[in-house]
Order: sequence, then C-alpha cells, then structure tokens
Amino acid sequence: MQIPDYRDEPFEWYREMRNKAPVVKDGNSVFLFRYDDCKEVLGNFRVFSSQFRDFMDKEVAAQLNMMAAPSILILDPPKHTKMRNLVNRAFTPRRIQSYEGEIRKISEGLLDQQKNTVFDLVSSLSYPLPVLVISRILGVPEENMTRFKEWSDKLAMNLGRMGVDMALQKEMSDYFGKLIEERKHSLGDDLISLLIESEVDGERLTKQEITGFSILLLAAGNETTTNLIGNSILTLSEYPGTFQLLKEKPYLIQSTVEESLRYRSPVQSTRRVAKENYSIGGVEIGRGDFVSVFLGSANRDEEIFSEPEKFIPDRKENRHIAFGEGVHFCLGAPLARLEAKVALETVTARYGNLRVIKPSPDDRLDSDIMYGYRKLMVQKEN
Ligand code: HEM
Repeated sequence: MQIPDYRDEPFEWYREMRNKAPVVKDGNSVFLFRYDDCKEVLGNFRVFSSQFRDFMDKEVAAQLNMMAAPSILILDPPKHTKMRNLVNRAFTPRRIQSYEGEIRKISEGLLDQQKNTVFDLVSSLSYPLPVLVISRILGVPEENMTRFKEWSDKLAMNLGRMGVDMALQKEMSDYFGKLIEERKHSLGDDLISLLIESEVDGERLTKQEITGFSILLLAAGNETTTNLIGNSILTLSEYPGTFQLLKEKPYLIQSTVEESLRYRSPVQSTRRVAKENYSIGGVEIGRGDFVSVFLGSANRDEEIFSEPEKFIPDRKENRHIAFGEGVHFCLGAPLARLEAKVALETVTARYGNLRVIKPSPDDRLDSDIMYGYRKLMVQKEN
C-alpha cells in the first residue's frame, strides 16, 4: 500500500480509505482506518500484542534486552499490569493537578522572554514547556535541559521504529542510573524518589525499570505535548474568531483541547502484532502480522463524529482516541491536557490574537507517526 508522504495532510487519504478500503492487508502488514476497528484492536490485548520483541529480529531484541528493562508501552498483561500499577501513583489526577501553578509559572516565564511581534511558537513555548515540566517533575537539574531536549527529539523520531539507537540508550541509561543512585541516598518529593519508594504487593521497581520508565516519559511525553499545543494554535488561527472566543470564554479551553486532540491528533498511528489469526471487516489477519491503527483517521470517522472535518471548539461528546484505548491508554493524558490548557489560557489572556504565518510542508516533523510542526511562526496582535 502506498502511504502518502508525511508532509502531505493525511486527512483526505484517510477519508478515502475509510470509505473504499477500511481494512487493508499488504504482505504481513495490516492497516485500519475506521474508529470501531481501531478500538476493537486496541481493546483486545490477548490477540493484539504490544510485545513486539517476541516477533522481532533476534539481534535487535537481544540489544534491547541488554539496555533497559522493557517499557510498559511494549509489555502485555500480566507484566504490564504490574508495572502500570507501580507507576500509576505518580500520575494520579490529584498529583498532576498539583503541578498547575508550576506549569503556569513556566509558561508565563517563557512568554515574558518573547519581545518580538513575530516569533516561533515552537522554540519559544510549545517545545520548552513540556521538557521543563517533566524535568521538574523528575527532579532533574535545569542545566541538563538542553541535553534533555536533544534526547526527547531523537527518542520521538525513533518511536514506532524497530531499530535501537544504542549510543543514545547508553547515554541516557548512564545518566538516569547515576541520578537514581543519588536519590536513593536523599529521597525527595520528585517522581524518581516516588518510583524508588513505590511498592505494590511487596514488589518494587528495579533501577533498570526506573531508568526505562524515565526514558519512556521523555519519549512519549515531550514531542506529543509540544505538538498538541502547536496544533491547537495553528487550528485556532485557521478558524477566525476562535482565539477571541476563548479569550471571552476561557471555560471553553478544555473542550478546545479535546477537539484539537481529535482534529489534529499528535499521534496519528500506533501498532500491534497479532498473536492469533483474527478476522476484521472480512479481512483475515494472520499470526505475526503487524497491524497499524490510524488514530488520526478513527478520530475523523463520519460514523462517529458529526461534521468530522470541521473544528468545533465546544464539540459535545468528543469520544476521540487520540490517547489510545484499552490497557495502554496514555498514562500522561492528565498532564498533557493540563499543560495544553494552561498554555492556551496563557496565550489567550496575554494576546489579542496570535496569527500563525502559514507554515511550509517542509516544516512538518519528519515522521509519519507524529503530526506536528518543527517551526510555527506567529504574529502577536494586541
Ligand atoms: C498530547 C500528548 C500525548 C499524546 C497524544 C499521547 C498519546 C499516547 C498514546 C496514543 C498512547 C498509547 C500507545 C499505544 O497504545 O500503542 C500513549 C501511551 C503512553 N503515554 Fe502518552 N501521549 C501524550 C502525552 C504523554 C505525556 C505528557 C506522558 C508522560 C509524561 C505520556 C506517557 C505515556 C506512557 C507512559 C504511555 C504508555 C502507557 C502504557 O503502555 O500503559 N504521554 N500516549
């Protein structure tokens, strides 16, 4: 199957596929475009596994085993359940809510530095914000932020790919290994200390597991949140009057964030591997087939959403699956939602309007999984 270039808008192609060929099998790859099919696969971990290493090239799997413990993203229950229970404590809505003041301070501080009328929203706000927030939460010194940014960049680009950047893995493992050792001797209120102390049914996380989890947070949380904020501002700018609407009615910001997640999903697709034969939409999926689930298409399915191609800031019953579905539902969803809400509150309170200067397709991230822009020039108006 011919997948469009990542720089093209994928939405027209999705629509065509949903209508003409919602389930495609091409060799041992399967592609799903409809909401119900995507949900069915993500909701059935018994058949559709995230444990890719069981089906990977032996050499790559061995390399992975040498480095960090498998992250929860690529584990199936029951191992996944045990790990997820251990890390859940750090991500309860109450704990996340307690970061709101800090997130607001960081957002305000970043925008205070922005004196020009025309500036790049990504490098000024949407990129540094999640990196600064996660480093504060993890308790990482601020001077390491540049290194953090580089790591999360590289990690995001590798997400969903089978290969492993060994040098990068080693650099990060060494860094977190040292940090964990330091924390063990002086526990604080940070996430790493919390993970060291976490215990469920007498089980604790090993140093290797805490390292793997910290790396996953950088990989899964930064680029995605950057894109959520950037995509939201871009879409507001494409729909005249919506920025002013949020200025007047800030209580609509929450539903706007949800609509942005649906309309321009930061993660456009995820994958599973079939452990058994299974039939979907009359197409036979075989054991060992890799299944691509297009979240970005599911979120525009006309069977589920009215006027799916339209951005409606106060859309009701927005059942998007931008954060996935089932046991792997995004652990960081409350944090991503909070960061995007605070970012939109900050810019709408501060500016009369923020007009995005039409970005070039070449400014799009070089990824067919992530949807977002590396650069978004904006013009502020009072
Ligand atoms: C807008 C921002 C975000 C989006 C769109 C997003 C999307 C997703 C999706 C689709 C999945 C499921 C993948 C799958 O089932 O294959 C996922 C899982 C995950 N996300 Fe997020 N994410 C975002 C932000 C974050 C943040 C801020 C964090 C943490 C700091 C985070 C941590 C995780 C983790 C740990 C998992 C794995 C959960 C598991 O396997 O049980 N994410 N995310």
